[in-house]
Amino acid sequence: MNQCIIWIKFLLNKCLTIFQYAKIRNNSTHYQMQEFNQVELNLDKDIDNNLKEELKKENYETELVANDLDNRIEQQNQQLIEKQEIIEVLPQTIDISSVRQFIETTPNVDLNNIEFLIELGNQSFQIYNTILYDYEGYEQLEDNQDEFSFWIKYIETPEKFQIHQMRYKYTLNTTIQKYIEFMKDLEMQKKLDTSIDQFEQHYSNSQIRINYLRYKKILFMDPRDFLFINYSKFIDENTLFEISKSIESDEFQPFNPSTKSTTRAYLLLSGNYIRQIEDNKLEILTYSECNMKLKLKPIMTKTASKNEIKKLIKKYRDHFNQQ
Ligand SMILES: *[C@@H]1O[C@H](CO)[C@@H](O)[C@H](O)[C@H]1NC(C)=O
Ligand SMILES: *[C@@H]1O[C@H](CO)[C@@H](O)[C@H](O)[C@H]1NC(C)=O
Ligand SMILES: *[C@@H]1O[C@H](CO)[C@@H](O)[C@H](O)[C@H]1NC(C)=O
Ligand SMILES: *[C@@H]1O[C@H](CO)[C@@H](O)[C@H](O)[C@H]1NC(C)=O
Ligand SMILES: *[C@@H]1O[C@H](CO)[C@@H](O)[C@H](O)[C@H]1NC(C)=O
Repeated sequence: MNQCIIWIKFLLNKCLTIFQYAKIRNNSTHYQMQEFNQVELNLDKDIDNNLKEELKKENYETELVANDLDNRIEQQNQQLIEKQEIIEVLPQTIDISSVRQFIETTPNVDLNNIEFLIELGNQSFQIYNTILYDYEGYEQLEDNQDEFSFWIKYIETPEKFQIHQMRYKYTLNTTIQKYIEFMKDLEMQKKLDTSIDQFEQHYSNSQIRINYLRYKKILFMDPRDFLFINYSKFIDENTLFEISKSIESDEFQPFNPSTKSTTRAYLLLSGNYIRQIEDNKLEILTYSECNMKLKLKPIMTKTASKNEIKKLIKKYRDHFNQQ
C-alpha cells in the first residue's frame, strides 16, 4: 500500500520546479511533460512555500468529464465479462456491473465482526481477479526493462480528487515464505520508508490483518492515514494473492494517535498476484488504486509515480539479494 504515498512524496518535493519551468517556457501541457523528463530537477528550500502559492493560484482540474467516465465504466464492464475466467472460474454470484461500485465504496464495519471482515476480504479477492488483466485505457510507461513493467490510468471523483490506477509487474529473488515474513515485519517496512510515522497491526489471523498506517507530514500535505484490511489467499503452494482494502470504523483508535490533524485516505483496492516462477524467483503483479484526497493534475505525476515505485522495488530487491 506504500505505492499510494510514494508518488506524492516525489511529486511534492519536485513538482514546483516543473510548474515554474514549464510556465516560463511554454504553456502547453504536452510540452511541460517533455521538459519534465529532460530537466534535471533541483530541490530548493523555498519549494514548499512556492508550491503552496502555486496551488492556490491554479485550479487543477482534469478534462475528464463525468459522461466520459460513465462510458468507460460501461466498456470496462463489457471487458470484464470477457476476461473474468482468466485466473479461475468465478462463482456466478458476482454481478460484474457492481465491480466499480465495490471498489469505490469504503465499508463501515464493526471491527469485532471478524466473519464479516473475512467475507469482505473474500469479495475483494474476487473483484481483484476480475480486473487483474484489464489493461484497457492504460498508458504503459515502461516495458520489462530490468524486469519491470508499469501501466497507469486516472479517474476523477465527483469531488475532483485524482485517483491513480497503477499496474506493475516485477520479479524478486526470493521465496513466497520469505516474502511474507518480510512484508509482515512492519518495523522493517518503516525502516525502508522513512516517511511512515506509524504502522500498527490491530488484528491478525491466518487470513486477514487489520492494519493502521500513518504517514508523516510531507511538505504542505497534512499527514495521511489508512485503516485497511489485508487479506491473503493461497491458490496453491506457488501462488499467493494479497489484497488490501480500506475500511471505516467508528470505534477505531490508533495505538499512537497523531497530535497533528490527519486526513484519512482510502485504499480503494490494492493487490498482489504473486507466483513462484523459479526456485528463488517470484513474479509479482500489482494493482493499486487509492484516493489520497489530493487534487493534483495527473499529467504531472505519472513519471514520478513510476520512478518512485521503481525505487521502492529496488529496495526490496537489495534486501533479498543481500540475504
Ligand atoms: C509549446 O511548445 C511546442 C513545442 O515546442 C510548440 O509546438 C507549441 O506551439 C508551444 N505552445 C505555446 C502556447 O507556446
Ligand atoms: C498560452 O497562454 C496564452 C497567454 O496566456 C494564451 O493566449 C494561450 O491560449 C495559451 N495556450 C495554451 C496552449 O494554453
Ligand atoms: C469465499 O467465497 C467463496 C465463493 O463465494 C465461498 O465458497 C467461501 O466459502 C468464502 N469463504 C469465506 C471464508 O467466506
Ligand atoms: C537475481 O539474482 C541474479 C543472480 O544473482 C541477479 O543477476 C539478478 O539481477 C537478480 N534479480 C533481481 C530482480 O534481483
Ligand atoms: C497487504 O497487502 C498489500 C497488497 O495490497 C501488500 O502490498 C502489503 O504488503 C500487505 N501487508 C501489509 C502488512 O499491509
